[in-house]
Amino acid sequence: MEKTGKYKRILVTSALTYANGDTHLGHIAGSILPADMFVRYSRLAGYDVIYVCGSDEYGTAIEMSAIKEGISPQEIVDKYHFANKKAYEQLGMSFDIYSRTSTDTHKKTAQDFFTNLYNKDLLYQKTEKQLYSEKEQRFLADRFVIGTCPVCGFEEARGDECENCGSALSPLELKNPRSTITGDTPVVKESTHFYFPLSKFQPKLEEWINSKTDWKPNVVNYCKGWFKTGLQDRAITRDLAWGVPLPMEGFDGKVIYVWFEAPMGYISITKELFASQGNEGKYLEYWGSEDTKLVHFLGKDNIIFHAIFFPAMLMAHGDLVLAENVPANEFMNLEGSKQSKSKGHAIYVKDVIEKYNPDSIRYAIASNMPENKDTDFYWSDLQAKNNNELGSILGNFVNRTFVFAEKYFDAAVPGAGEYKEIDINIINSIKSYTSSIASYYENYKFKDAVSETMNLVRDANKYFNDTEPWKVIKEDKARCGTIINTCLQLCRTFAVLFNPVLPFTSEKLYRMLNIPAEGNTWDNASELKLSGGHKLNKPEILFARIEDTEIEH
Ligand code: 2FM
Ligand code: ZN
Repeated sequence: MEKTGKYKRILVTSALTYANGDTHLGHIAGSILPADMFVRYSRLAGYDVIYVCGSDEYGTAIEMSAIKEGISPQEIVDKYHFANKKAYEQLGMSFDIYSRTSTDTHKKTAQDFFTNLYNKDLLYQKTEKQLYSEKEQRFLADRFVIGTCPVCGFEEARGDECENCGSALSPLELKNPRSTITGDTPVVKESTHFYFPLSKFQPKLEEWINSKTDWKPNVVNYCKGWFKTGLQDRAITRDLAWGVPLPMEGFDGKVIYVWFEAPMGYISITKELFASQGNEGKYLEYWGSEDTKLVHFLGKDNIIFHAIFFPAMLMAHGDLVLAENVPANEFMNLEGSKQSKSKGHAIYVKDVIEKYNPDSIRYAIASNMPENKDTDFYWSDLQAKNNNELGSILGNFVNRTFVFAEKYFDAAVPGAGEYKEIDINIINSIKSYTSSIASYYENYKFKDAVSETMNLVRDANKYFNDTEPWKVIKEDKARCGTIINTCLQLCRTFAVLFNPVLPFTSEKLYRMLNIPAEGNTWDNASELKLSGGHKLNKPEILFARIEDTEIEH
């Protein structure tokens, strides 16, 4: 049965990944894994939810990578779109669709949006000074220029934003600007651009954000900081060849600014999802309705675009739903310093997936998710989480339960007899765990959700130890059957409750229990659904140990 509640549907997005490099664990921790966990939980809880994501394929970042690699932007995005799609699949990300922004649907969506605002006279043109490289014979837009951040003094700030303090910038604001490609000092030249009147939307945006009582403090504080500085109108076109061309005649050589069209990717990708089901118009059931709970997952460097800029664009458009929440994460650094694709300091999914269990990677990241502050990924932590928690707590419980069932009960679920207090306590506790874990997911507290789920397994192990089935089997086989029955019921509960963070393990558990995943939901996770006599499959190893020699240092 589908849940409704305050909203009829949930639409989840993860920040679109730039298709100019391999996706790394920083992306996973910031915007992909929390969204996937939230979506998996929401599906199990019976919500009507869709999860859209894809590649962000325009913008100077892509053009720059193309120049650096000596190939065309199209070749770059083709290479990384498919590579990242595969990497996400290998890590178990359950997008309803993972598409891209270089599609015709996206081009049309972005152009229509632009035209909508243009026809409402909301956009204005301004001739402005711009940095121009004589050497390269081109305007230096956004990332093509670096310099010192006027806000925090960081010397490597990009022309579009400062990675250090998160400020949105324009190239002319940078002190000591230089070309990213050649290092030469640019000159100033004039060019005409369209502007979006962001400043006009400040009162409405402030009112909107002030009405959000359940947003994470880090997100609200970022926004309040920008309101205090005062929102500036923003140029929404660029002198570039690579991008969505302006919809009107007479603007050759100009494209829509990537941060204006990329978030529309969420809309165009939703259209594609429903087009593939033969009903493109259905996208409006999600985007065109106040009954939709739109949730954007992203890293802190993207807050301004999702909590301020895109909502203002949507307000200007008028017919589309605004985010209900923007549960942005901070950064997950790598052994002490920021993961960055441009600096080559990152753990790439394609590498890590070759060596480790995808669920171990998911679990290590989820348990240390940068929800409220930056955290660090340590290889030793992946090893410890895999060996000491997944292996020694979850793997151990499941293994000893199955070994017992195989050895003494003919690899079938023994029937349950009369319950003792100790059995009733653990069975009752499943219900309260199920609801506390649900509440953590509903409130985007993924670290707590995961540790609470593991606490249930700790309790299950304590139950196994305290009931001592290895002794009881010698004296009272029926009583032992009740204990092992309870332990097997718990294994089914784990298949449900761990699904958001350990989807592959969840699948294995269903396989071992010899039941289909379908029909197992959050609502019935605490029920005792396995019947006595039901045949079990052979136990599989859930988590192989990671030895010291296998871990990077
Ligand atoms: O920062 C980034 O990685 C961007 N590619 C995120 C884009 S999100 C969206 F708006 F498309
Ligand atoms: Zn800065």
